[in-house]
Amino acid sequence: RTLIVTTREGETHKLAALDGWRVMEIIRDHGLPIKAECGGAAACATCHVYVDPAWLPKLAPPNEEEEDRLDEAFEVMGNSRLSCQILMRPDLDGLPVTLAPGSE
Ligand code: FES
Repeated sequence: RTLIVTTREGETHKLAALDGWRVMEIIRDHGLPIKAECGGAAACATCHVYVDPAWLPKLAPPNEEEEDRLDEAFEVMGNSRLSCQILMRPDLDGLPVTLAPGSE
């Protein structure tokens, strides 16, 4: 699988990913800047990403916990998600995300 990540500087990286990995972990393990301070517990909002809008229908809507954290994030948009709450799976192969302000 591949995850496509655009940094705050506008650089795009294609990252190898395995099913079941959190998008946040994939980004972090490849050494790209993502704070992810709470380690994936939906408690910090520093793993905030923008998901390519065309891909949003493939994702389950955010649960209440994720909604609450996103309320505390910077520059939240309609395609804002917590990358620790998205697990890689076959139909998300090629998912494009952009790192959001405050996540790095
Ligand atoms: Fe903290 Fe995702 S890593 S909310």
